[in-house]
Amino acid sequence: MAQEKPFKVGLLLPMTGQFATTGRQLEAAAKLYVQEHGDVVAGRKVELIIKDDTGVPDISRRQAQELLVKDKVDVLAGFGLTPLALAAAPLATQSKTPEVVMAAGTASITEASPYIVRTSVTLPQGAATMAKWAPENGIKKVVTLVSDYGPGIDAEQSFIEEFKNRGGEVVETLRVPLRNPDFSPFLQKVRDIQPDAVFVFVPSGAGAALVKQFVERGMDKAGIRLIGTGDLTDDDLLNGMGDDALGIITAYHYSAAHPSEANKQFVEAFKKANNGMRPNFMAIGAYDGMHVIYEAIKATDGKGDGPALLAAMKGLSYESPRGPVTIDPETRDIIQNIYLREVKRDPADGELYNIEFDVAEAVKDPYKEAK
Ligand code: DHB
Repeated sequence: MAQEKPFKVGLLLPMTGQFATTGRQLEAAAKLYVQEHGDVVAGRKVELIIKDDTGVPDISRRQAQELLVKDKVDVLAGFGLTPLALAAAPLATQSKTPEVVMAAGTASITEASPYIVRTSVTLPQGAATMAKWAPENGIKKVVTLVSDYGPGIDAEQSFIEEFKNRGGEVVETLRVPLRNPDFSPFLQKVRDIQPDAVFVFVPSGAGAALVKQFVERGMDKAGIRLIGTGDLTDDDLLNGMGDDALGIITAYHYSAAHPSEANKQFVEAFKKANNGMRPNFMAIGAYDGMHVIYEAIKATDGKGDGPALLAAMKGLSYESPRGPVTIDPETRDIIQNIYLREVKRDPADGELYNIEFDVAEAVKDPYKEAK
């Protein structure tokens, strides 16, 4: 029998530059999925073609174009930052190629192309869940502090809306540059205002610097609480933060400490394949992104073109290491549990984890629910 041509997945990842930790996590998880599930699906050999977009949208767009025209990829995937996912969106639409967004989190991304499917999270899923918890737990007056681009603005706005509806007051909104941020003047401002808490969104990789400066300024001792979406207490960096991180409350879709059998196996295999590196919420986006791609290849018996693959991805429902997930057939966005977590030290291994203590089940992107 003639060999079918390979099924090519073009993975665009920031492998160098400020966001290299995101690329490293995504790459490791995608490779682990292939290693565990085999590289032949429905008779097609799955090939990952990895490109370093360096976190720059123009490079992402050019590489997506090359992957489509030269390599003739069946699926585009990856997308470590919102501007990178948006840069490729028109190409996905023109070429009718599924774009699986494994990391970026601005709510509107899925509206940039009917070919986009998301397996990460939307910032309003995390931020609105946090805004429900805070006023019931002694937090009435908040300053928001976010990275000044899509996901930060989504986090800020969705937090404010939900928090105000529940009687909370947001007294100041601060936006920090995305590239090479210096948090100190912003934290000083928070300190001067003395709110009950500061609600933070910073992208994966930036949390450790913020937490360190927060504690150095004595803001914890001054009675200001630090809350945020789970990007702040990223599993990749958490141990490096040390005791400074203890007690931080965040809301998000994935913790390496999620107590399920599927997650225990995932974390163990990931660490084993990557010199002990712990998977973070980026890793689970890529692992599940590969799952969605594999399921679409199977459902189309290895013969699906872009539209057929996309149709097979819509409505997929399964048990991920993060918990139950569904790809909303209407919005192509992910429906998933959002957990409330507190950073604690596990006496068993002495390491820091985001320990889940509550859950909002099957959360849809609040921005899409409102429509
Ligand atoms: C995005 C990037 C991140 O590193 C993150 O933690 C969340 C969202 C983004 O650019 O969409």
